[in-house]
Amino acid sequence: MFQFNSGDMIVSPPRSDSSSPAPASSPSGFSTPATSSSVLFDNAISNLSILQGLLSDDQYVLVTGGLGYIGSHTTLELLKANYNVIVIDNLSNAFESVVDRINLLAKQHHEKEGTPMPIFKYYCQDYQDTDALRSLLDEYKLPSRWGAPKSKIIGVIHFAAHKAVEESIRNPLKYYSNNVRGLIDFVGTLDEYGIKTFIFSSSATVYGTLATSGSPLREELCVHKTEVVEHPDGSRKTVQPGSTGITNPYGRTKWMCEAILSDLALSDPEWTIVALRYFNPIGCDSSGLLGEDPRGTPTNLLPVVVKVMTGQIPELRVFGTDWDTDDGTAVRDFIHVTDLAQGHIAALNAAVHGALRENFRTFNLGTGNGHSVMEVVETMEKATKKPIPRKAVDRRAGDVGYCVAAAGRSKDELQWTTHKTLTDACNDICTFLKVSGHLG
Ligand code: UD1
Repeated sequence: MFQFNSGDMIVSPPRSDSSSPAPASSPSGFSTPATSSSVLFDNAISNLSILQGLLSDDQYVLVTGGLGYIGSHTTLELLKANYNVIVIDNLSNAFESVVDRINLLAKQHHEKEGTPMPIFKYYCQDYQDTDALRSLLDEYKLPSRWGAPKSKIIGVIHFAAHKAVEESIRNPLKYYSNNVRGLIDFVGTLDEYGIKTFIFSSSATVYGTLATSGSPLREELCVHKTEVVEHPDGSRKTVQPGSTGITNPYGRTKWMCEAILSDLALSDPEWTIVALRYFNPIGCDSSGLLGEDPRGTPTNLLPVVVKVMTGQIPELRVFGTDWDTDDGTAVRDFIHVTDLAQGHIAALNAAVHGALRENFRTFNLGTGNGHSVMEVVETMEKATKKPIPRKAVDRRAGDVGYCVAAAGRSKDELQWTTHKTLTDACNDICTFLKVSGHLG
């Protein structure tokens, strides 16, 4: 159906969504700052041999939701790491112009490195549209002599999901249908095509009330089959599967999907599945061309801070100043989205190369360090050199005071660690706002 060469970026016609927006717009309306070389990424490459990318020219990674906030940054890092990438995205919370921006940044990277640009293809479709998915997967089928299906797609990174906590409380069936039922159908179809390497976007929300313990959260605190856990002091404890105190349907969908994927991996050893538990992703690519651009009203801290900085909201409401923390505001593990994106590549490499301890494994993606809401606001004030109006209000329902990752497992088993700071994230957000004309 498509003719392409290495280096081409192909935007497919919409397959089944007749209401799809117009074709990708050109990035020419943006002033492109010189893309500073990704020093951190380059360091990461030299530190981590796992970021080596493509196995062969004719192998692909399929990314669902690859134009959203985390998806777009991950797609870019995959292309930089020499993977051929196929993105599917229904644009429910993303814009098609992101395709051009990813393409531009990846090409700039490869021109600078003197390396060939991998193939990048975008299909405007919903990951739940099984007919469209089958047509796509048919294009990448490999001949198989013994009947077992084979594909040029070596792995899938699955971002496509609804993620607004408050909306999930108002409309839980929308969340269970898209996030859970959609996942079951999706992995069932992948299974038919012999695609059994899967990286799942999970969340620290799966820890439920454990987040109130005040200690960094370790992966073994939330498991999906009985596990014996060894503590640093040498004591052993049996942990039963389950989770308590997840406060909203969105969070429950993440836990349910993890449990389903764990069961799938147990039933079929050919599957290799990683669930990545994100802490609080912030920031954007240092070029300022990609960023967090949600279609709806934001509720997460940094997107709200941005609305205040751009004058769309008069002041930030700081939810709770009486937490048991140094300055009384809540503490979170804020992770730069580029570090987070590289965590996916580390997980994919470990999965593809059979380097995981079990064929279902969970990893926290966090820095291991906490910053308070007030520290975030003050760091952003330094970055933008302007005051950010705020007022203290009551705690938000369902919030916890302290939620920070234990980062050891990702470091030990994925050889992945974060490099960027809160200051980097705030500076990069300011660049994004300047590039997009929202900040003088
Ligand atoms: C939220 C979600 C969580 C999701 C995570 C990552 C809720 C209840 N939880 O976590 O399920 O996995 O994002 O995206 O939404 N804050 C303010 N003023 C604001 C906004 C936030 O003070 O206008 C405070 C919050 O009270 C919190 C901190 O900033 O203490 C971080 O909030 P947020 O960005 O919404 O993330 P989480 O609550 O950690």
